[in-house]
Amino acid sequence: MRILGRGRIKTVLVTGGAGYIGSHICVELLDAGLEVIVVDNLSNSSQEALNRVEKIAGKTVLFYQIDLQDKARVKTVFETHTIDAVIHLAGLKSVGDSGRLPLKYYQNNIYSTLVLLEMLEQFSVKNIVFSSSATVYGDPATVPVTEQFPLRATNPYGRTKLMIEEILRDVANSSHIQVVLLRYFNPIGAHESGLIGEAPNGSPNNLLPYVSQVAMGQRDKVLIFGGDYPTIDGTGVRDYIHVVDLAKGHIRALQKIAENEGKGERCQAYNLGTGHGHSVIEVINAFEEACGHKITYKIVDRRSGDIAECYANPNLANQKLNWRAEKTLPEMMKDTWRWQTKNPKGYKSD
Ligand code: NAD
Ligand code: WQD
Repeated sequence: MRILGRGRIKTVLVTGGAGYIGSHICVELLDAGLEVIVVDNLSNSSQEALNRVEKIAGKTVLFYQIDLQDKARVKTVFETHTIDAVIHLAGLKSVGDSGRLPLKYYQNNIYSTLVLLEMLEQFSVKNIVFSSSATVYGDPATVPVTEQFPLRATNPYGRTKLMIEEILRDVANSSHIQVVLLRYFNPIGAHESGLIGEAPNGSPNNLLPYVSQVAMGQRDKVLIFGGDYPTIDGTGVRDYIHVVDLAKGHIRALQKIAENEGKGERCQAYNLGTGHGHSVIEVINAFEEACGHKITYKIVDRRSGDIAECYANPNLANQKLNWRAEKTLPEMMKDTWRWQTKNPKGYKSD
């Protein structure tokens, strides 16, 4: 077993570890020689993802099917294991649902975090990495976006991210806990084995799962939300980042806090993006290359709340975390397509 840094991180609790991004992080943690404990209520995921993680890594994950809001059960995990760091991904993430069900989002995302932080304090766990989002920048005045840009969320989901960032900043200032806030841009792609990937329930909200279902013939056509944005071709531009690059960023973040323990920044935010924007049309064209056939699309009205363009300035993460996104858009498409064709029904077997 390996230990990260002077702070000696060897056992990591991953909340939401059965989910899309969490499962890829588990693979990287196991590959780095760390022990991995997952707490997930499986509300938006499947335990099969963790079976596949074990298959890829050739190592085991300790899994607890627990809702993070259930303080008594979460406490038993902290009583049973010595946890050195937490990667906190668990949360609800649909922007649209959050507008319809704000209380559900505040209850689930915020209360879960409070329970978790109480455990970190009680059990003297010193390190937490939080899954934040580019959504905390709202509609940025310019691009690329740096960590210093003003923060303003435009929907309840985004506000839970912003509130949690603020809670974590207060906790870092008042306790032994060191915090890293990772602001993800648009994670896409899948592990190159084709064993784990994004498996949305119902109709996908995000572009890539939708495009891949159209490519599979499971849906008619992609509806492009808006063709009149002030962008290269009128369609929305985003910073798509391969989920494996994103997962590797978490290992670098852990390394950084392990090395920094007791000194330096107690709460630092980093953008995890490639620094490049791609339009919806560019993404569809790249996907056509990967799947080898045309994808039908239709340009329709803008989606309410969408912004024209958003991509990261990732310099801070490049420099301070010694991390850089390496995979190209064609690789992201190829890996998505491999996952989709090998698992047309996601993790469901029938
Ligand atoms: P996901 O839904 O696949 O993973 C989240 C996991 O958390 C799921 O497995 C779900 O079952 C679990 N969960 C939710 N509430 C829980 C609770 N109360 N107790 C225990 N488990 C709970 O989503 P993802 O795409 O892997 O996202 C992971 C994190 O990254 C989320 O916090 C999300 O907001 C954030 N994020 C995602 C994106 C993206 O585009 N996917 C972008 C930026 C930030
Ligand atoms: C990307 C582009 C759409 C679907 C969302 C959340 C954000 C973060 C990532 C968690 C946009 C266009 C999409 C479709 C389309 N999640 N599009 N047709 O909106 O950048 O970000 O996911 O934190 O908080 O808001 O991602 O994948 O939904 O859209 O034309 O069917 O694709 O308009 O330009 P978005 P997305």
